[in-house]
Amino acid sequence: MLRFELLRTEGQARRGRLTLNHGVVETPIFMPVGTYGTVKGVLPRSLHDMGAQIILGNTFHLWMRPGLDVMQSFGGLHGFEQWNKPILTDSGGFQVWSLGAMRKITEQGVHFASPVNGDKLFMSPEVSMQIQTTLNSDIVMQLDECTPYWQGDKGSGHITTEAEARVSMELSQRWARRSQAEFARLENPNALFGIVQGGMFEHLRQESLEALVEMDFPGYAVGGVSVGEPKDEMNRIMAHTPHRLPAHKPRYLMGVGTPEDLINGVANGVDMFDCVMPTRNARNGTIFTRYGDLKLRNARHKADHQPLDPSCTCYACAGTAGISWEQGGPDHGWQGFSRAYLHHLDRCGEMLGPMLATIHNLHYYLNLMREVREALDAGAFAAFTARFHAERARGV
Ligand code: GUN
Ligand code: ZN
Repeated sequence: MLRFELLRTEGQARRGRLTLNHGVVETPIFMPVGTYGTVKGVLPRSLHDMGAQIILGNTFHLWMRPGLDVMQSFGGLHGFEQWNKPILTDSGGFQVWSLGAMRKITEQGVHFASPVNGDKLFMSPEVSMQIQTTLNSDIVMQLDECTPYWQGDKGSGHITTEAEARVSMELSQRWARRSQAEFARLENPNALFGIVQGGMFEHLRQESLEALVEMDFPGYAVGGVSVGEPKDEMNRIMAHTPHRLPAHKPRYLMGVGTPEDLINGVANGVDMFDCVMPTRNARNGTIFTRYGDLKLRNARHKADHQPLDPSCTCYACAGTAGISWEQGGPDHGWQGFSRAYLHHLDRCGEMLGPMLATIHNLHYYLNLMREVREALDAGAFAAFTARFHAERARGV
């Protein structure tokens, strides 16, 4: 089941409400990535506290480990990972593609060797739908082929040609039909999204989109972006494709991106985003803040008493009542940590370091989308965007 209400628009930007089997999602939304059935280092309770409404899981990884028997015995992923709100699972196409030389793609599907134990495995649209049905994800993604920007290695390879992009897009289109047929045969009670491909070619994107709209999915994703292309190419596709999708259905931009990319995506009509950036970068010491990005490993933070982001109300930055530094200081009990402390934890390789950094970065992304929703509710998204860019340019 999926219901989508379009509440308000400003230019191409949209404020919406998505109702799924495990709950309601206010859009635009950022979805934290939980590949192996965990958003790395974060308690589900913390995710809930910071306002996460829907998280991702990964068909491919959960199929490898723990496998479908275990998933089946828990009635799906929600009960296994103790997350009782909506879950979206990616189909496995993108991850199988990332295996590189270890896989072979045919019309039927993808043959590959398990990275866990070397077993010969086969992923097809039908298999992907069977796995995602067992996971009981609220949003199921079709199996697709994510067309890369580079064929072969960057440097020795070449940029994907129009002919190559067409072959790939048409394969994804046939896999969309097979995904849809299998999803229906399984009587899956959730929602299946189609994925627009077409590389960097606008007429191929248009063709892909029209074929998928004809198939009448309850929601649509734009895939094959942030796959090694220059930023202006990504921006060209972001300006071209999302707003052409049906207005009354949710739109999901896969695997994007920086805070600036999210704002740009919203301005181009995107409702849903996911990206490993806030979680992965946290573990590498890159912190997103209202006033720009902060490199935690820089020696200048060694004795800095300020929190990561003085305006932030997350557990890592703020006081017990969620009072930010800017609102009056964090120094009362159990939470609200300095840059010096996080710098120290990172230098010592302590687990708490990435945990706190991840909480902060996710809170930043989720709060950014909350501010976007509030701005859209007030008809003030244009003004919000101007302030966002000015603050991010200020520097930490
Ligand atoms: N994640 C990021 N990009 C893609 C894509 O094009 N397809 C799929 N299935 N997942 C993605
Ligand atoms: Zn914070």
